[in-house]
Amino acid sequence: MIKEELIQLNEKFENEIKGAQDAKQLNEIKVKIFGKMGALTILSKSMRDVSAEERPTIGALINHVRNNLEEKISQKEDAFKQEELMKKLDNEKVDITEPSKGFEVGALHPISRVIDKLTDICVEMGFSVVEGPEVETDYYNFEAMNIPKNHPSRDMQDTFFITENTLLRSQTSAVQAREMEKRKPPFKIVCPGKTYRNESDSTHSPIFHQLEGLVVDEKISMADLKAMLTTLMKRLYGDDTTIRFRPSFFPFTEPSIEVDVSCPNCHGKGCSTCKGTGMLELLGAGIVNPKVLEMSGIDSKKYSGFAFGFGLDRVAMILNGITNIRNFYKNDVRFLKQMR
Ligand code: PHE
Repeated sequence: MIKEELIQLNEKFENEIKGAQDAKQLNEIKVKIFGKMGALTILSKSMRDVSAEERPTIGALINHVRNNLEEKISQKEDAFKQEELMKKLDNEKVDITEPSKGFEVGALHPISRVIDKLTDICVEMGFSVVEGPEVETDYYNFEAMNIPKNHPSRDMQDTFFITENTLLRSQTSAVQAREMEKRKPPFKIVCPGKTYRNESDSTHSPIFHQLEGLVVDEKISMADLKAMLTTLMKRLYGDDTTIRFRPSFFPFTEPSIEVDVSCPNCHGKGCSTCKGTGMLELLGAGIVNPKVLEMSGIDSKKYSGFAFGFGLDRVAMILNGITNIRNFYKNDVRFLKQMR
């Protein structure tokens, strides 16, 4: 009798397990079979009433039914887990055929590009690139450049003072003074960097950039300066570029000149960029004043040098056809994107 009951129980629960819809239902079936009041638990208890001869067969049958149902349940559990995993994978599916949204490529700031371009050309000509502090002492910015305190030539540069003896450097010439103290001639250096003056209009910004070059060696003359600058400007603005020297004054050079280049926009014909003149004022230069060499411990009887310095913002404005310098400092992405 118990044997029939076991066979029926086995069949009934096999079917229930098969029909379970989810893990929760399966768990309820598990309790109905193996729980304290579970069908198989109760049947196992009735082993007491089984005769001694039948006991081994019935015992084996109970074990068989238990193992069978346990196995069916675990198979069903696995199936549910697999199903769940497939569902999850389906949800996380990436459609590799979907068109890409693309990504934005950044670019160097137009001023950085000009610095890179100019320093690259200078390095090819044998110059070393050096940098110095933007917060500078009065000594390196002015005095070592032959601009004594209270001298009228200080008015050429409207300077931001921090204390009586420290300032935001108004010219990269300060780096020259530092380097001349450290180096032994011959040497060729260029110093690009930020400079500061208290002025602001469409072509002047309180923060701007300069690049200054210095060559010190025996027998350096104006001819060397002219040759060097001609090469530099041709490399920068194109082979048909010409330059023009005009006399000028700087306390740290003697003689001093101002250098104009033929307008790269109209090639000297005259246009709005050069205001019809065909030429653009671009840089200051000259033969290093012997006083400046001596102040930095260089023998001015043996050595001479030339120096030149120019505003990089102006170079970038001309190269990119920009009329207002402030565009460089506003960080307006729309402007910068056009400069890519
Ligand atoms: N330092 C000068 C300026 O800022 C430019 C310059 C540099 C002139 C070197 C001559 C030689 O105006």
